[in-house]
This record gives sequence, C-alpha cells and structure tokens, in this order.
Amino acid sequence: MGILTGKKGIITGALNESSIAWKVAEKAVEEGAEIVLTNTPVSMRLGTISQLAEKCGTIVIPADATSVEDLGTLVDGAMEHFGGKFDFVLHSIGMSPNIRKNIPYENINYTLMDKTMDISAISFHKLLKTLYAKDALNEWGSVAALTYIAGERTFVGYSDMADAKALLESITRSFGAIYGAKRHVRINTVSQSPTYTTAGQGVSGMTSIYDIADKMSPLGNATADDCASYIVTLFSDYTRKVTMQNLYHDGGYSSMGMSAAVLEQLSK
Ligand SMILES: NC(=O)c1ccc[n+]([C@@H]2O[C@H](COP(=O)([O-])OP(=O)(O)OC[C@H]3O[C@@H](n4cnc5c(N)ncnc54)[C@H](O)[C@@H]3O)[C@@H](O)[C@H]2O)c1
Repeated sequence: MGILTGKKGIITGALNESSIAWKVAEKAVEEGAEIVLTNTPVSMRLGTISQLAEKCGTIVIPADATSVEDLGTLVDGAMEHFGGKFDFVLHSIGMSPNIRKNIPYENINYTLMDKTMDISAISFHKLLKTLYAKDALNEWGSVAALTYIAGERTFVGYSDMADAKALLESITRSFGAIYGAKRHVRINTVSQSPTYTTAGQGVSGMTSIYDIADKMSPLGNATADDCASYIVTLFSDYTRKVTMQNLYHDGGYSSMGMSAAVLEQLSK
C-alpha cells in the first residue's frame, strides 16, 4: 500500500517528461493516488501529456490557469471524474514572456509583466478561490505550488519571475490562513533546486546557475524525481499540520554562504 492510497488529486503543468509535474504525477500514482491532469490546449498539443495520461490511466482536462472559467470547468470535471471531492492539487505553472523575449528587468514591458504575474502567481489565487468556492477539497486536503529561491533573494536573469514567485509565496500564506481555518486544508510552496526542464532552460545562464547551485549544496541539486518524492509526502497524511510554509527542497543550498567546492572553482 502506498502513502497516497485512497487519495485523489489534480496535477497541473506536465508538459513533457522533463516537467517536475510529470514526475509528481508518476510518483503519486505509484503511491496509490488517482489523478486528473491538466494543461493549456497549446501545451497539450506541443507537449506529450497524452502519453502521461495513458500511463497513469487518467484524463486530461484542458485549462488555461489564468481563466477563472477554465478553472471552474477543471474543478467540476475532476469532481465528476472522481465522483466527489478530492484531496490534493499541484500548481506547477510558470512563464515569463519578458524572459522569453530577453527583455532586461530594468527595461521591462509592463503588459508582459502582467502576464508573468497572472500565469505564474495570480493563477494560484484563482485556482485556490475556485477550489474554495466549490468546496472541492476534502478536510485535511493539501495544495502545493512550486517556487524558486529567487523569490526571496536576487538571482541575475530571473527578472519578473522573481517578483511572481514572491507573490506566489505570499498568496500561499494569505490563502493558507483562510483555507486552514475553514476546512483544514494546507497550502505550501516547495522551493526547488534549478532543474533542467523547458521552463528552467528558459532562464539565461541556466547551465552555470545549475552548476554553481550543485557545488554550493552539500547534498547536490535536488532532481525532479527527488522533488516528486518530497511532494507526495506533502499530499500524504504524514504532513497534516504543515501549512503556509515555503519548504526548501534544494540539497541545503538555502542555508549555505560559501562551500569548499565553489571556493575551489572560483580560485582556479
Ligand atoms: N526548472 C527549474 O529550475 C525550477 C526551479 C524551481 C521552481 N520551478 C517551478 O516549477 C514549476 C514547473 O516548471 P518546470 O520547471 O517543471 O517546467 P515546465 O516547462 O515543464 O512546466 C511549466 C508548465 O507551466 C504550464 N503553463 C504555462 N502557462 C500556463 C497557463 N496559462 N495555464 C496552465 N499552465 C500553464 C506549461 O504548459 C508547462 O506545463 C514552475 O512554477 C517553475 O517556476 C522550476
């Protein structure tokens, strides 16, 4: 019996095999969960989510996470599929058109910045609001979103995605207080190491960021598979009193100042 036996949930953001959400979906099913997958219609076409759905024996409900209407359809569709309420949701969604277009932070395009915020942070509020309004989650349910340490400390090249992550982490606390008190639903962010995915590779200098983080972290960078293993514990009953936290899943990176490995590299 797996730690998610009897649990049901929605997993957003699986684009292809490298996606963190893809690994979470596989791991959740391996641990006994039933899942529903979702992504935008464009990502469904460009990526390979239908293969994941087949592997996990489930359906994909198309939804743009910036559309409250789509999110309503998603939550209704999941409840219909599961035959009632469910237990967990993963928000694994991020995109900055400013980063995509290589626009420097000091010259940012505000229309695109609104999009970054809507896709990467406000979508989390919209999703939580939809779940809350429809009372879709069982008591002691769990919601997790993926974030990066650039939401708290400045990382060159992370641009407006850093601002979006700061907002995402704040929404986690603000909604966590309300949902926790009302329905005992917990909400956390997982601050993951740099990971080679489609979104990750969009950040300029990713190879160096990955390499330095790996050398700085006593345990080395956490992989997407490691992340999936951690996230399923957050969906399980073993973490019922953990809420409104930004949980570092980064091999120790966030507590480091300087490591011997980085010092050695810089001294060369
Ligand atoms: N890769 C990293 O280094 C890293 C590190 C820390 C946190 N994260 C976060 O992990 C999450 C998942 O990213 P990933 O690295 O697996 O990359 P990914 O590109 O595989 O996943 C990003 C997903 O966001 C989806 N998406 C974009 N716009 C959307 C919208 N409007 N509605 C619904 N879905 C939308 C994409 O279709 C894609 O599936 C993101 O929040 C990202 O910021 C990534």
